[in-house]
Amino acid sequence: MSAVDLSAINGFLPCVTPQAWVAWALDNPQLLLVDHANCEKKAASTALNLMYRYVEHPRLLHKLSRLAREELRHFEQVLGLLQKRNIDYPQLSASRYAGELRKQVRGNEPGRLVDTLLVGALIEARSCERFAALIPVLDDELAAFYGSLLKSEARHFQDYLALASALAPETEVTARLAVLRAREAELICGHDTEFRFHSGVPHT
Ligand SMILES: [Fe+2]
Ligand SMILES: [Fe+2]
Repeated sequence: MSAVDLSAINGFLPCVTPQAWVAWALDNPQLLLVDHANCEKKAASTALNLMYRYVEHPRLLHKLSRLAREELRHFEQVLGLLQKRNIDYPQLSASRYAGELRKQVRGNEPGRLVDTLLVGALIEARSCERFAALIPVLDDELAAFYGSLLKSEARHFQDYLALASALAPETEVTARLAVLRAREAELICGHDTEFRFHSGVPHT
């Protein structure tokens, strides 16, 4: 596997991905890839939205422009795999994960931006952790691909966290992360009816 140090990611996340989710992913290999394609697209559009909303932050613009390009490249790579494997690309409903996390974002600036960036850090960290959880159980081609993505997502996690930390005192970041982490753990360990890349576990 890759030489990425996952200790920062695992220390940041409130819980590990349950094995029940990994088993659910293996039962839904096509859905995994299709929803993964959607995640890459959404990651790019989230970054672009922030670039429209916060033009007064040059560092944010620069980091997120690079990030959006990278996410779109990931999207193209997943799209290539879908085509190679003859997997259709239907419209899928979004998992509740990102939407539920964003409900925790404060309404007034600068808290809104700080929280949105922290949600971004959580989503990137979780994506990275899930790639790592999947690598041992996937076929060689997908395992190698996810190994390469893991490095990017680890960097994206650091980028989002650094941007948030530059805008708020450490005590505020810590307090907001406690709220967001608690919700994230509920979404990851709770039940979902549909499998998605960021879903919880199935009802048994
Ligand atoms: Fe990505
Ligand atoms: Fe990413």
